[in-house]
Amino acid sequence: MGAILEDNRMNEAFDAFLQELQRHILEETKRDFGEKVFERWQNPFYMGVMRDADGHAKVKGICGDSMEIFLKFDNNRVLSASFQTDGCGPTVVCGSYAAEMAFGKTPDELFEITGESILAELGGLPKAHEHCAFLAAASLHATADDYMVKQAGKRRTETAPDRT
Ligand code: FES
Repeated sequence: MGAILEDNRMNEAFDAFLQELQRHILEETKRDFGEKVFERWQNPFYMGVMRDADGHAKVKGICGDSMEIFLKFDNNRVLSASFQTDGCGPTVVCGSYAAEMAFGKTPDELFEITGESILAELGGLPKAHEHCAFLAAASLHATADDYMVKQAGKRRTETAPDRT
């Protein structure tokens, strides 16, 4: 009986230690990355694969992580956007902001979303993580390219003379 009580006390102490450690790590992350980045990391909007995307691209960054962006258009403006990445927390945050900033944009306007503008939107990142924003922007631009190439292909098919 005494041994069981002792075990329970050790488990509780260990759980309390883990909770304290987690709280400490979260506090440090918030301090290092800022409130806005921390909140979005905890709750990343627009994450996931879009099956019926009109444009899609996957780009690999200098760190080896990759970022995919999916865009759906209506009347040549982004109706919906999502991202998927195998990268770290800041990469997730940058993908989420890149998708959010794409809403309502024409393909040309998507090229105005840059690594710098993503960093400005989320309030900056530590130097070592700034490349995550540039990966998100590069993936967004590659997705806009993919959409435009597909649109051009459709137009060619529609205007091709009927030889049947
Ligand atoms: Fe690789 Fe962020 S650490 S893209």
